[in-house]
Amino acid sequence: MTTPRFVTWEPSIAQTIIDEFKAKPGALLPLLHAIQDRFSYIPEDAVALIAGALKLSRAEVHGVISFYHHFRTKQPGRHIVEICRAEACQSVGARGLEAYAKSALGVQYHQTTADNNITLEPVYCLGNCSCGPSVRVGNEVYAEVDSRRFDELVNSLKTERVEIL
Ligand code: FES
Repeated sequence: MTTPRFVTWEPSIAQTIIDEFKAKPGALLPLLHAIQDRFSYIPEDAVALIAGALKLSRAEVHGVISFYHHFRTKQPGRHIVEICRAEACQSVGARGLEAYAKSALGVQYHQTTADNNITLEPVYCLGNCSCGPSVRVGNEVYAEVDSRRFDELVNSLKTERVEIL
């Protein structure tokens, strides 16, 4: 199983990413994605660096971050479990699966389990529409996930080591 490898917050790494994007038109959104992809969330210190580089206020950067559910301002759990909410998966039981997942984990979407192991997120199509309900963990997409397979997946994540750079 592949697990995303996030790095711990380091301003110099963020600055390198910012320098790569700041001169491009419409830099803010791709830059926010790149920061989250690298650190797993967008720290407050990154907001300040981004605002300075793009000559925006912090409030303007926060406004964009809060508009998109995809962006996180807090560090997620060790694993991010995404359940597809798009139409094809819904037609084969994704709604039941997400209700089960929330109940089993004791969280709502965008929340993290008490043991800090799993953050539950919605996603809208994983390109696996013919084999739904689909779930993604890291770079791996799981097909035809029912409650039993979900439990197996969660149990496997409890015992998996995660490398943090
Ligand atoms: S609709 Fe769920 S993977 Fe496409």
